[in-house]
Amino acid sequence: MQDESGRIEETRCLGENYYLLKINTPLIAREAKPGNFVMVRVSPSLDPLLRRPFGILQSDPPHIWLYFQVKGRGTTLLKNHQCGDRLDILGPLGNFFPELPGKKILLIAGGRGIVPLFGYAKTHAAQQPLVLLYGGRSAADLHLLAELGAMPLHKSHIFSEDGSCGEKGLLTSGLEKIITEQRPDATMACGPEAMLAALAKMLKAKKMENYVSLEAMMGCGFGVCHSCVVTAADGRYRKVCDEGPVFPLEEIRWPT
Ligand SMILES: Cc1cc2nc3c(=O)[nH]c(=O)nc-3n(C[C@H](O)[C@H](O)[C@H](O)COP(=O)(O)OP(=O)(O)OC[C@H]3O[C@@H](n4cnc5c(N)ncnc54)[C@H](O)[C@@H]3O)c2cc1C
Ligand code: FES
Repeated sequence: MQDESGRIEETRCLGENYYLLKINTPLIAREAKPGNFVMVRVSPSLDPLLRRPFGILQSDPPHIWLYFQVKGRGTTLLKNHQCGDRLDILGPLGNFFPELPGKKILLIAGGRGIVPLFGYAKTHAAQQPLVLLYGGRSAADLHLLAELGAMPLHKSHIFSEDGSCGEKGLLTSGLEKIITEQRPDATMACGPEAMLAALAKMLKAKKMENYVSLEAMMGCGFGVCHSCVVTAADGRYRKVCDEGPVFPLEEIRWPT
């Protein structure tokens, strides 16, 4: 884990409150693995006090790329930064998606859940068959399609609830058919909790390895404050920041 002052080298607004930042952070970029995240101090002052967590979209040393959605005060401050500004960044943090050599993997991304899966796709698509299932409410929630299209993915399925991009419907409506046709050995998913809970129900009876990347409210990001706990299937707690954010799907207790 590094505490690094990163220099912003590119900012891109993707419309509807989504932004991309390219940040020069050689130490963090060198260590980062697909699924890791960083804690970013969004303002040079102590207000807001807590750093905000963001997944690493892509690590391309000496740079990392962040892709974020404006939600509240912290992300509004972050989007207002300009090229040349410096950001205090802690990372890489957390675990990462496992290596599953030779296995066919179905990547399931809901909206900005594409973040931890993007880097995995980029680094693994040339070595093993990856099938992408990517969905959101509308085209305004689905970005990076050109970048994903340039990767040698085995197959891509895009869904939007309003039909403005790809097939119309929830991405979960396409899951059964894709699994029957593609017969993946494993799934890796990230997205809103309701989507992940629905996936957990649908994948329960299937004989596959399933992994999810979770989000939780975070204070420290490295295991000290316990603000990020989730309940595991065994009734104990797991800290998303340092035991995750990637967990086997069945290890988590999902709302029924
Ligand atoms: C491991 C991890 C990786 C993440 N990766 C990304 C990413 O790549 N891109 C991205 O856009 N966002 C990501 N998030 C969510 C991001 O951290 C929050 O959206 C951000 O902290 C909100 O800060 P804010 O000050 O703008 O919002 P606040 O003013 O603090 O809150 C505004 C709203 O955002 C919600 N919110 C706040 N924190 C979180 C959170 N941690 N998760 C979900 N909702 C939250 C609040 O419930 C509230 O409704 C990630 C979160 C975690 C834990
Ligand atoms: S955020 Fe502090 S322990 Fe996880």
